Amino acid sequence: MKKVFIKTFGCQMNVYDSDRITELFESINFEKTSEVDKAGCYFLNTCHIREKATEKVYSEIGRVKKTFKKKYKPLVIVGGCVAQAESNEMLKREPYIDMVIGPQSYHNIPDLVLKFFRKQQKFDLTEFDVIRKFDYLQKIQKKNEKVSSFLTIQEGCDKFCHFCVVPYTRGPEYSRPFKQVVDEAKKFVDLGAKEITLLGQNVNAYKYEEGKKTYKLSSIIEELNQIEELQRIRFTTSHPLDMTDDLIACYKNFKKLMPFLHLPVQSGSNKILKLMNRKHTIEHYYSVVEKLLKARKDIELSSDFIVGYPGELQTDFEKTIELIKKIKFTNSYSFIYSPRPGTPAAKKKNSNNEKNKENLLILQNLLSDIQVEKNMNKKGSLCEVLVENKLPNQEKYFGRNRFMSPVVIDSGDYVPGNLINVQIHSVNQLSLFGKYIKNPTAIPAL
Ligand code: SAH
Ligand code: SF4
Ligand code: F3S
Repeated sequence: MKKVFIKTFGCQMNVYDSDRITELFESINFEKTSEVDKAGCYFLNTCHIREKATEKVYSEIGRVKKTFKKKYKPLVIVGGCVAQAESNEMLKREPYIDMVIGPQSYHNIPDLVLKFFRKQQKFDLTEFDVIRKFDYLQKIQKKNEKVSSFLTIQEGCDKFCHFCVVPYTRGPEYSRPFKQVVDEAKKFVDLGAKEITLLGQNVNAYKYEEGKKTYKLSSIIEELNQIEELQRIRFTTSHPLDMTDDLIACYKNFKKLMPFLHLPVQSGSNKILKLMNRKHTIEHYYSVVEKLLKARKDIELSSDFIVGYPGELQTDFEKTIELIKKIKFTNSYSFIYSPRPGTPAAKKKNSNNEKNKENLLILQNLLSDIQVEKNMNKKGSLCEVLVENKLPNQEKYFGRNRFMSPVVIDSGDYVPGNLINVQIHSVNQLSLFGKYIKNPTAIPAL
């Protein structure tokens, strides 16, 4: 049987796509392998969000070439957002690449691969054809035995933040039909999923109209909340402008929706948010946070931050620091601004890179201090943990509490997929460590 090796960069949507790509290959009798040198097909699922993305792809292909030197030439496919952005250029620059396939064209993979092996033909497929993609993927979808599963409900973005490539690489916003989403969720649950994370570049912009009815993200959460064996619902990534009241109310109304929300703010300065074309202000962001806390008082937030956006002064950076101290974000991501070809911000003059590096460090240290302090406070407390898997070579298991914190649990009378109570006995910056408590006397706090 032919084997396919898939390497994935980028966001969770790429992880979801890679699982679907695996199924597409299985439909033509390929088997997934984790040993690259055994692969008949090498598939690279790429990300274009920050600097050097394209160069990274070429050096990765260089490594593949070395691996197969003197052996044979595998079929080499580049997918994902770099494929979409560069398309045909890649085939010209690196003849070792056989196909470039954009994210909206994955449903064509079986045909293209079979054709290739028949005729050794090269392909560039980077059209936006998102409706056919999801229809086809659903038909061939078979298995996904993960306790925690991703489910893409929305793709693309119409927001056009001035720094971001996503509207160009993933195209305009598209929401999958409501019923298709719910059916897929039920299928994942039938296969053992206990947690579903709904995905989209702009997941809370989800909107699907059928007859007189408009379905929103809140409609999906309401529906999924009724699936008996499903224990937890999450969604990511959200835009602050689309945090509508019906969605906020879900935190109050549906207990399966976990009280942890990734809500990227990017900057604490209104001047910078305007230059970024984020379309929201800091005041709006605070008002959303206030409403969220009213709906569910234990809710925790994480965010993304960009340091050194063109025009950012030290006073703007300090406003971001102030915001972090006020909201006390956990688990956040932060990056130095990276000009992306074709975006409006790329035409602007870049700011001082040394200063940016210094500021990034200040910001990351603050985020990590907050994280450590929060974790320290969790020592001794009782957590509700969804057990995901056994750790390799150890009699310990891995799971997450309601707030997404990784929890390492001493082995006991439980199996992956169980929702258990864990008493935390030690912590470090990133993880919590604890033991299983069978019949707790208290209600878990985390
Ligand atoms: N849709 C999400 C973010 C998607 S991109 C949102 O609106 O928040 C993920 C993160 O990458 C962004 O939140 C941003 O912080 C970062 N990012 C995107 N483009 C970037 C760039 N050109 N330079 C640095 N960071 C960038
Ligand atoms: Fe990019 Fe902005 Fe769209 Fe997020 S909302 S994907 S940052 S353009
Ligand atoms: Fe990267 Fe594309 Fe996701 S650019 S972050 S893989 S949408």
